[in-house]
Amino acid sequence: MAEIVISNIVKSFTDRQRNADILAVDNVSLTINDHDFVCLLGPSGCGKSTLLNMIAGFDKPTSGRIEVGGVVVQKPGADRGVVFQQPTLMPWLNVADNVAFHLKLSGIRKAERRARAQEFIDLVGLKGFEAHFPSELSGGMNQRVGIARALLMNPRVILMDEPFAALDAQTKIEMQEELVQIWQRIRCTIVFVTHSVDEALLLGNRIAVMSRRPGRIRDYFDFDMPRPRDVTSPEFNEAKRRVLGLIRDESRMSRQAA
Ligand SMILES: Nc1ncnc2c1ncn2[C@@H]1O[C@H](COP(=O)(O)OP(=O)(O)OP(=O)(O)O)[C@@H](O)[C@H]1O
Ligand SMILES: [Mg+2]
Repeated sequence: MAEIVISNIVKSFTDRQRNADILAVDNVSLTINDHDFVCLLGPSGCGKSTLLNMIAGFDKPTSGRIEVGGVVVQKPGADRGVVFQQPTLMPWLNVADNVAFHLKLSGIRKAERRARAQEFIDLVGLKGFEAHFPSELSGGMNQRVGIARALLMNPRVILMDEPFAALDAQTKIEMQEELVQIWQRIRCTIVFVTHSVDEALLLGNRIAVMSRRPGRIRDYFDFDMPRPRDVTSPEFNEAKRRVLGLIRDESRMSRQAA
């Protein structure tokens, strides 16, 4: 079933300082199915965050439309959880209260908030840290709090914008493995932005390769390699060669055009 339908999305920004328009996303169409783990892969500045923000409802397309669960996106909603590159936690709230933050806004009582938050605190491996404050946690642990907070609302879709980019290599590998396990367990749809070919191929079951700005979809393919994926295996390297080939073609074309 199609969970997200992105149709002919164009997004341009007005640069008032320079009195010019910047075309960030150019005619992107993508269909993302229920329980897909889609990685949006592209170079810096190609419009990945812009596209994700439009799916989240933080920003509006210049033209085209985005539907989630059959409903046109007009604004942010509880059906879409968002995890950013830097965890946007409230420094004055402990882990449990950060995870349950949206429940408090909905007027749900403390005992129920705590009980519902606990399930997701356990799921992301933070049991025992409920009373810690963000400043007392590592970057990876803070990112886990952000993921638990997004999962708590039981969204149909989780939108992740380079959530592991600031982590060290070892923590990143742990978090990537955990995310795949969480996705397999709760069967949500994930759209994950990255500029790392390895990360996209490690996580995604569908990969959308974007061009340089203005962002267009260069390729959108299924990647059904069994999990856990061995990044040193011939199958992984074959897929990597294909993606790197696309990226190389793209660089050649943009050099020729310059
Ligand atoms: N609010 C804005 N106003 C003006 N221009 C913007 C705005 N947001 C993004 N842009 C421009 O749109 C283009 C795409 O930006 P975007 O942040 O989506 O890229 P990205 O692919 O997420 O890059 P990165 O990997 O570095 O995060 C860039 O050229 C950027 O300068
Ligand atoms: Mg970005």
